[in-house]
Amino acid sequence: MNLQESFQKYFGVKCEALYQAPARINLIGEHLDYNGGLVLPCAISLYIKAAVSLRNDSLINVYSLNTKTGQKEDLFRIKKDSNYGWANYIYGVFFVLKENGYQIPKGMNIMIDSEIPLGSGLSSSAALLDLILYLTSDMFSLNLSLETITKLAQKVENEYLGLKSGIMDEAAIALGKKDHCLLLDCHQFKYEQIPLSLGDYTFVVLKTNVPRSLVSSKYNERVDECQKGLKILQSKYQINNLCEMSVDSLSDVKELISDEIIYRRVRHVISEQRRVYDFVDALKKKDIPSLGKLLNESHQSLKDDYEVSGSYLDTIVLASIHAGAIGSRMTGAGFGGCAIALIKKDAFINFREKVLDEYHKKTGLHGEVLMVDIVDGPSRIK
Ligand code: GLA
Repeated sequence: MNLQESFQKYFGVKCEALYQAPARINLIGEHLDYNGGLVLPCAISLYIKAAVSLRNDSLINVYSLNTKTGQKEDLFRIKKDSNYGWANYIYGVFFVLKENGYQIPKGMNIMIDSEIPLGSGLSSSAALLDLILYLTSDMFSLNLSLETITKLAQKVENEYLGLKSGIMDEAAIALGKKDHCLLLDCHQFKYEQIPLSLGDYTFVVLKTNVPRSLVSSKYNERVDECQKGLKILQSKYQINNLCEMSVDSLSDVKELISDEIIYRRVRHVISEQRRVYDFVDALKKKDIPSLGKLLNESHQSLKDDYEVSGSYLDTIVLASIHAGAIGSRMTGAGFGGCAIALIKKDAFINFREKVLDEYHKKTGLHGEVLMVDIVDGPSRIK
């Protein structure tokens, strides 16, 4: 049964429209968004879909084909700190829309079907938030711009779900453009779409198939550590965020920050920001070896200085290098999830086999290597 048929069977009415939103990977610039830096993500061809119909009452009636569970709640009774399980992401959107003065006149039936694995670091949650905002805007003619969708989705994460996440994921998905990556200045919320044409080379996604653990607590811990580092540096430097510091200041930074751990967190942020600039330069020149080198350096920094990688991610990244990748790194928040690798297109089959073999031998787990397209953001598909 396809999504439309399942919709009709479950809700007893025909769906009126179908929408989709993609997943994302981040090419480089990890853990920089909440430090006011530049990041470089892109939307990829793994989708979450929603079938919808309007209701005559004010219920938001939702069902997930993935979890095979549903929830109902009155639009006007959605509360903060409620436990709607996975549907928190949906009710959070309606809560935030209301808080921000948007009037939703009636309820909806919404059925969700996602091929973006949960907790894989490919932003299944931001995809769901952007999707619900996009479809609500379309169904009720709210005319939300993609920028507004991005900001409202982040509000849901920060204010409703309690994760201190930056704006990267919501932006990467909402502003996704086919065959382009998004150079996003997270401080000023300015962006540029950069063509991602690598000739004989391509990015692939490496799935560890280890669900991320402790992600929200460890993530919030990193945000707090960066805040501490920033406070110390502000005693000497006139800066609003860590990404304003340059790599040339690192020896001075070391003197100012006596706490070893905080120093290493700050060093990651400052050096990663430099790598984003260098990566964009290399991308424009199609300098494949430099791209690879920067990916590897980024991974090392996330592993040693920022400590957000983990043995499974490290193993799959190393296996991909052994299998001939030009460069490889974890992508997203870390603590399990996915990595990316830059490889030669025609080596894909061999590369995949070698990576999966080494990864399985070393961890006993079955990973996955996916060839993905770089795609547009959310859309109505029917
Ligand atoms: C998660 C967050 C993003 C970003 C990345 C790390 O995906 O949602 O805001 O901080 O981690 O770069």
